Amino acid sequence: MKHIVFLTGAGMSAESGISTFRDSGGLWEQYDVMEVASIDGWYKNPDLMIRFYNERRAQLDEVAPNEGHKIIASLEKSFKVTIITQNVDNLHERAGSSNIIHLHGELTKVCNESKSEVYDIGTKAVEVGARADDGSRLRPFIVWFGEAVPLIEKAANIVSNADIIVIIGTSMQVYPAAGLIHYAKRDAKVFLIDPNDVPAPSSSVEIIKEKASVGMRILAERLTKL
Ligand code: APR
Repeated sequence: MKHIVFLTGAGMSAESGISTFRDSGGLWEQYDVMEVASIDGWYKNPDLMIRFYNERRAQLDEVAPNEGHKIIASLEKSFKVTIITQNVDNLHERAGSSNIIHLHGELTKVCNESKSEVYDIGTKAVEVGARADDGSRLRPFIVWFGEAVPLIEKAANIVSNADIIVIIGTSMQVYPAAGLIHYAKRDAKVFLIDPNDVPAPSSSVEIIKEKASVGMRILAERLTKL
């Protein structure tokens, strides 16, 4: 069975109604990323960040996986599929995918300050000032700017073993996630699905200039001919 690895970003969830970060009107136009998504921001104003992530977590109850998520999940019938996502939403899970690595954490989880204790809270809000069992502040289980990405080595190893790699919905501006594609085997087939122009990591990448749901329909058809 061929191994397909999907590298997904915020654009994957755009059609589900979750805004991306760097498109016009994106999240980083509405908020100062360093105030709401960095470890410095946490030490400066943790209450603001607790409220920011409470809002994003609550939004999960109003959105659903889109056609693109569902087609990726359906490919598990004919391929070994691993999803390495920068997204912190739970839409790949809710679409039925089973091998998912969240490089940047998960909205439905919180943890203690040292991240040694992780708690699944679904879409519930965290009370401002709430403490973990060890007495430290309860915080979103998110990898913020300025923090290490613990799963990056595992992800790079998976990419290095992929037969097919599909990049969907990421501007590839945030490292180390954006560097994963460079671990691809020389003979791996690489596709990139994005409705906008994004810098292709190499000339051999097959670009499908469509949004995720349309691009995945085209890709699914294309995969039958590989
Ligand atoms: N379908 C597919 N791609 C889309 C769609 C769509 N419907 N709409 C937009 N896109 C594309 C945009 O063209 C862009 O290339 O999705 C990409 C979104 O880019 P970003 O907003 O930068 O999101 P992402 O690359 O996931 O950001 C990476 O930055 O702020 C951090 O931790 C955060 O994980 C995030 C990381």
